[in-house]
Amino acid sequence: VQIVDRIFEPYIDQNTVENAILRVAKEINKDYDGKSIVFLGILNGAFMFCADLMKNIQVEADISFVKLSSYQGTKSGGTVHELIGLMQSLKNKHVVIVEDIVDTGLTLDKIFSMIDGDQPASVEVATLLFKPSAYKGSHVPKYIGIEIPDEFVVGYGMDYQGIGRNIPAIYKLKN
Ligand code: IMP
Repeated sequence: VQIVDRIFEPYIDQNTVENAILRVAKEINKDYDGKSIVFLGILNGAFMFCADLMKNIQVEADISFVKLSSYQGTKSGGTVHELIGLMQSLKNKHVVIVEDIVDTGLTLDKIFSMIDGDQPASVEVATLLFKPSAYKGSHVPKYIGIEIPDEFVVGYGMDYQGIGRNIPAIYKLKN
């Protein structure tokens, strides 16, 4: 498929994505049994993963969103900008940050620095995709859907220049 000026090819099919989400949900249900979670979704990319993950969560769960941005085109810009901040106190809450993809980890580090002062009871990270070879942050996600090499991907909430989020499977940039 062509998105703006680039060609993308099929990479991870819908079924594989769904199975990864079910597995992550199962792990969270087990680990938080008897507790109450606040999911913290990172907009825009994580909206679809948040929705599908939450449908499979059986423990008590609330959700809140923050909006951050670091990407320009297909490369991380290095600085993370806060576009919509936290609207809810996380004090004494069990927080699970929900990301579409963890790449350099800069976004995650920024989120941790935003919420640490709130004194949550615990903070973990769930991400649909993780690029271990690109990662240079200090908070490795506990719940990982699928690990991928350092490829630029779109679909399932993820975009190239704002386009492609609606694709239900994952495509990668064709070299
Ligand atoms: P990080 O701060 O480098 O870990 O990047 C995190 C954010 O950058 C993700 O939440 C995505 O919004 C975006 N991002 C990273 N890699 C990709 C990609 O391959 N495709 C689309 N967006 C990406």
